[in-house]
Amino acid sequence: MITLNATEARLDEAQVPLRVLWVRQGALLPQGEALDARLGGLFRRSMEGAGFKGEAGESLLLATPEGHFLLFGLGEDPREAGGRLAQALLKTSFPEALVEPLGAEEETYALAEGLYLGSYRFERHKTEREAKSLALRLSGAGLEALERARKVAEGVYLARDLVNEPPNVLTPEALAEAALGLKPLGVEVEVLDEAAMEALGMGAFLAVGRGSENPPRFIALRYAPEGARERLDLVGKGLTFDSGGYSLKPTEGMATMKGDMAGAAAVLGAMKSAALLGLPVELRGYIAACENLISGRAYRVGDVLKTLSGKTVEVMNTDAEGRLTLADALAYAERQGASRILELSTLTGAAVVALGEEVAALFATEAAWGEKVRQGAERAGEKVWPMPLEKAYREKLKSPVADLKNVGDRNGGAITAALFLAAFVQVPLVHLDIAGPAFAKKTHPLGPEGGTGFGVRTILEVARGL
Ligand code: BES
Ligand code: ZN
Ligand code: ZN
Repeated sequence: MITLNATEARLDEAQVPLRVLWVRQGALLPQGEALDARLGGLFRRSMEGAGFKGEAGESLLLATPEGHFLLFGLGEDPREAGGRLAQALLKTSFPEALVEPLGAEEETYALAEGLYLGSYRFERHKTEREAKSLALRLSGAGLEALERARKVAEGVYLARDLVNEPPNVLTPEALAEAALGLKPLGVEVEVLDEAAMEALGMGAFLAVGRGSENPPRFIALRYAPEGARERLDLVGKGLTFDSGGYSLKPTEGMATMKGDMAGAAAVLGAMKSAALLGLPVELRGYIAACENLISGRAYRVGDVLKTLSGKTVEVMNTDAEGRLTLADALAYAERQGASRILELSTLTGAAVVALGEEVAALFATEAAWGEKVRQGAERAGEKVWPMPLEKAYREKLKSPVADLKNVGDRNGGAITAALFLAAFVQVPLVHLDIAGPAFAKKTHPLGPEGGTGFGVRTILEVARGL
């Protein structure tokens, strides 16, 4: 647990157990320089003696007659610097520290966001918890920036928690409960059960969920502040577990499939932050939540499904289930009057092969909308890269018996998946394939291994920029 407070205090006058000084490209910042001069060049000599270069995340702890100082390598990205600093401080037993200012307001904001994100832990299922709390005072920071960072981080925390919850805990019904938990913040939430979905004609989504004893749930959310200047419709993939179904995944492939609802988690996290921030944009969210399992009721390879849009789909691989659930969620969003859609899903392993674990694939049916989302992601510090919705590959999705089949061949798998989704909406659609960055296999500057909350910050920045 970390708390951040703004302070006017300068580092040379404050009495605190620990003071953090930044080192950028081997040099101290102004307040560090002044302190160093007062201490007769102690910092400089210590840095030289220890061979401390001040690379990103590198740290040097010094006990001086004036108290403890932590010299800390800033690196290029203040957000990551914040994350690294939080993780370093949580390993010490200092209960509080004062942090040297960075200067520019944007940098201070990013630093604060990084401090919050980097200190995230998921310990709900540990019988022994670290439970360390740390109070930081940021010299020269504005209260408003710190508040904004905290509210953004709350949404990212929610998304991470949901991804990290094991699949026996986070069932489709539990995901719906989590959505209902946003009601006190002023978010309207509607949950549809199987009967309601049947009546609507969500044949693709229902087929995917049918193999599980845990019933599917369709979740519709609405955050509509008075005087909202724009509206943004969000869709998130909500597979609380993906075994692959009869096209069964090997064990290693299943290990992270509790996180196959990371798109849904990003939608819920962004809704939470938006409500906390009072963002003046109407947000709608749609989540088709279910599990892809095996049973006597499960859907098969060869089944033909009738989607909400009216189009029929031949199932040629039950592990390409996300696109089936999303086809119905996208069609539903359009029925609700969406004029543009941002959809996030851990959709394909092919996107991970193409762009690795850190970069999401961005597909847009309309260039201007794609560019808006790309810019939002850039401002948010989340990595996305544009990929082509190559029309020539549409024929890979042709079926001899239905309007479409749900898989192409092995090549261009992220593209055929995106083309499949695009077949179910007319309004401009951006599809973010977050299969890589949604789940971290090891500790990274902005958090521990597990759910990253990828997408929350992008959604918020896109909404802010509308
Ligand atoms: N949930 C997976 C995609 C995935 C893979 C997410 C790795 C995160 C990490 C998705 O449902 C899936 O299984 N896709 C198949 C599609 C294939 C059958 C066309 C895949 O990528 O192998
Ligand atoms: Zn799958
Ligand atoms: Zn999946």
